[in-house]
Amino acid sequence: MATSSNISALSAIDDRSGDLLGFVISRIVMDEAEVLTIAVAIDRRRRGVAATLLETHLSELAMERVRRLFLEVEEGNANARALYQKFGFVEKGRRDGYYRKADGSRASALIMQKDVI
Ligand SMILES: CC(C)(COP(=O)(O)OP(=O)(O)OC[C@H]1O[C@@H](n2cnc3c(N)ncnc32)[C@H](O)[C@@H]1OP(=O)(O)O)[C@@H](O)C(=O)NCCC(=O)NCCS
Repeated sequence: MATSSNISALSAIDDRSGDLLGFVISRIVMDEAEVLTIAVAIDRRRRGVAATLLETHLSELAMERVRRLFLEVEEGNANARALYQKFGFVEKGRRDGYYRKADGSRASALIMQKDVI
């Protein structure tokens, strides 16, 4: 069996200050990719940074011939879930108690998917 994988990453930088505003990282395997993380600086949120990052990232993945994009998100992460819903990700599965939180409690992961092309 032969496999290959590579990482696609994109960052958003403030033109004036040079500050890092946010970034997104995915791992590509064949014609699928998984979003490993997306994050925006806490004082720069709700200004469309993640939306711009994700839109550009999706175009870049499509150019890499990625057909499907997956990700895992904590069930209670309403902000991220709203972002993914806006971009047409749909829930495909769930891992109960997948995350261990700082207070020792467990949280479930939702597996979401989007067709890129
Ligand atoms: C999730 C996260 C990346 C969103 O970044 P952001 O730059 O604030 O998001 P945007 O301003 O681009 O918002 C795009 C859309 O996401 C949704 N959204 C983002 N933050 C939201 C919030 N606080 N409340 C409700 N909806 C939200 C909305 O649909 C929004 O579209 P709208 O502005 O037209 O309503 C950011 O909150 C973050 O870094 N969180 C911590 C890291 C994290 O949880 N990453 C996801 C791991 S799976």
